[in-house]
Amino acid sequence: MNASGILGSRPEALERLARAGSAALVTKSFTREPRSGYPTPIAVPIPQGLLNAVGLSNPGLEALPGLLERIRGLGKPVIVSIAGSTPEEFAEIAAAAEEAGAAAVELNLSCPHARGRGLEIGMDPVAVREVAGAAASTVTIPVLAKLGVVDRLVEVAGKALEAGARGLVLINTIRAMAIDVYAMKPVLGHGVGGLSGPAIHPVAVRAVYEVYREYRTDIIGVGGVEDWRTAAEMILAGARAVQVGTAVITRGETVISEIVQGLQKYLQEVGATSIQDVVGAAHKN
Ligand SMILES: Cc1cc2nc3c(=O)[nH]c(=O)nc-3n(C[C@H](O)[C@H](O)[C@H](O)COP(=O)(O)O)c2cc1C
Repeated sequence: MNASGILGSRPEALERLARAGSAALVTKSFTREPRSGYPTPIAVPIPQGLLNAVGLSNPGLEALPGLLERIRGLGKPVIVSIAGSTPEEFAEIAAAAEEAGAAAVELNLSCPHARGRGLEIGMDPVAVREVAGAAASTVTIPVLAKLGVVDRLVEVAGKALEAGARGLVLINTIRAMAIDVYAMKPVLGHGVGGLSGPAIHPVAVRAVYEVYREYRTDIIGVGGVEDWRTAAEMILAGARAVQVGTAVITRGETVISEIVQGLQKYLQEVGATSIQDVVGAAHKN
């Protein structure tokens, strides 16, 4: 499926993803109020990746029912990504997402460049437990906790699961920056942003591997997936599904169908009948 924030705001874009074979559609992170985001430039390519500081720009909760209504006919489960700053706010947005028809909610506990939100919550095991608990006790649809790279990731993941998260999404972008050496200032309008793409893939594989080893739970792997091989690595590390972000931006949404076809061929090659057979297989060796 697509990663949150990638073609996840407009019905036309989500339709393209559905046509490309995305198993589910993931929305951009919704906050309660509309957010206009950070000053430009909000994204810059770097070797092996992309730096962005979009600033969680989104039209706010009010626009969610309309978006879901428009894409209902596509027949794909919709995962609504949500971002807030308190457990109550997360619970309120999760309830609205459920009411609007979401199949699941993804808690963005990992945006690396939004003050008071995202990673500031996601690095604190107590806050993660409170937010996941508030959301999980408010809705009946599955709650997924999207975590970022933090020192105590395995502990934080455990708190989210303990609090009722049905599964985990690993990882978000990693805090990073680039500096323009002639302008002598940061390249991104916001200064610090998040790194995505091939550069973060090995870090994401490690995160999935370590969390799966501890909890054997359901994980969606995300970070630098760009072809069947990088997707397979995630699955062998313990992911049951993968999301694709930067590769959709750089190569177009058809990268998703290429990955699906490549994975089917790979499964045949290794004598597996379904993805299920190889989830976490790297742990057996
Ligand atoms: C332009 C851009 C916008 C993003 N917006 C969001 C967002 O709104 N919510 C979120 O949870 N993650 C967001 N992300 C992070 C991605 O969902 C994903 O976790 C990250 O980019 C790593 O995957 P990738 O290497 O395949 O891009 C964004 C990433 C990019 C590049």
